[in-house]
Amino acid sequence: MSAAARRFIGKSVWMTGAAGGIGRECALAFAREGASITALDLDESGVTETARLIALDGGQCEAHRVDVSDARQVQAAFGQAVARFGRVDIAFNNAGISQKAGPTIDVDPADWQRILDVNVTGIWFCMREQIKHMLGRGSGVIVNTASYAGLSTLPMNTAYVTSKHALVGLTKNAAVEYAANRIRINAVAPGGIPTPMMDRSLAGLDSTQRGAALESIAGFHPMKRLGSTREIADAVLFLCSEEASFITGTCLPVDGGWAAA
Ligand SMILES: NC(=O)c1ccc[n+]([C@@H]2O[C@H](COP(=O)([O-])OP(=O)(O)OC[C@H]3O[C@@H](n4cnc5c(N)ncnc54)[C@H](O)[C@@H]3O)[C@@H](O)[C@H]2O)c1
Repeated sequence: MSAAARRFIGKSVWMTGAAGGIGRECALAFAREGASITALDLDESGVTETARLIALDGGQCEAHRVDVSDARQVQAAFGQAVARFGRVDIAFNNAGISQKAGPTIDVDPADWQRILDVNVTGIWFCMREQIKHMLGRGSGVIVNTASYAGLSTLPMNTAYVTSKHALVGLTKNAAVEYAANRIRINAVAPGGIPTPMMDRSLAGLDSTQRGAALESIAGFHPMKRLGSTREIADAVLFLCSEEASFITGTCLPVDGGWAAA
């Protein structure tokens, strides 16, 4: 890789949801471009594997288990990263959970609460630590993973849609509050991306049904295909780079046109 493509040399990146899918792809991409990574996830073996892959690639990554919905765990994990790498320059709040599809009136209250706890409150807990730290340092960049479902509707997924809309609001509001402090805060809104999350939503289908379901999801996108984790990582790294130095408070759809349709 050319020096020009190593945009994050010397940067410390703290990220959640790094055990697979979009998070692992982003962790590997940041590390390839020179960043030191603190990779966090509820799934300890998955995030340890991410760190192993980064080390194999010649990069630097510390992996820890954390539940983002537990404020004390988040605070401790953030402190560990600062102790290890001296600071956090970039934070990518990507951990999230989906819901069991079903009508709005039938959502289990416990599922509703857990989705809000992880997808909204968990990201706020992370942002609190990040913003306090970045205020002290005088700069920083935060990107949150929202969703197509944070910009538009997804029938039978009201809890998830509610959580991702709230996350877009959290992102924009905090961005405006801290813009003058040189902290940029944005979100990405992926469309349908084949990841463990999507696999779980298709669990139980045979291969024919699975093929039909994937084709149907692809059909919602004006580009008539699913996206890739690489396409999301490209957008996340762009938002975290100097190329996005005047961009804050935005939610960037990376969804083949789905939210615009
Ligand atoms: N795959 C898609 O089509 C799609 C589309 C739009 C948005 N997203 C969002 O992208 C993000 C990443 O999802 P993905 O598709 O890579 O799926 P994924 O399931 O592979 O990734 C989510 C990760 O978050 C972790 N996680 C869940 N709860 C946690 C908690 N309480 N604390 C810490 N970690 C926790 C999971 O263990 C998992 O590794 C999520 O926020 C998701 O909502 C995904």
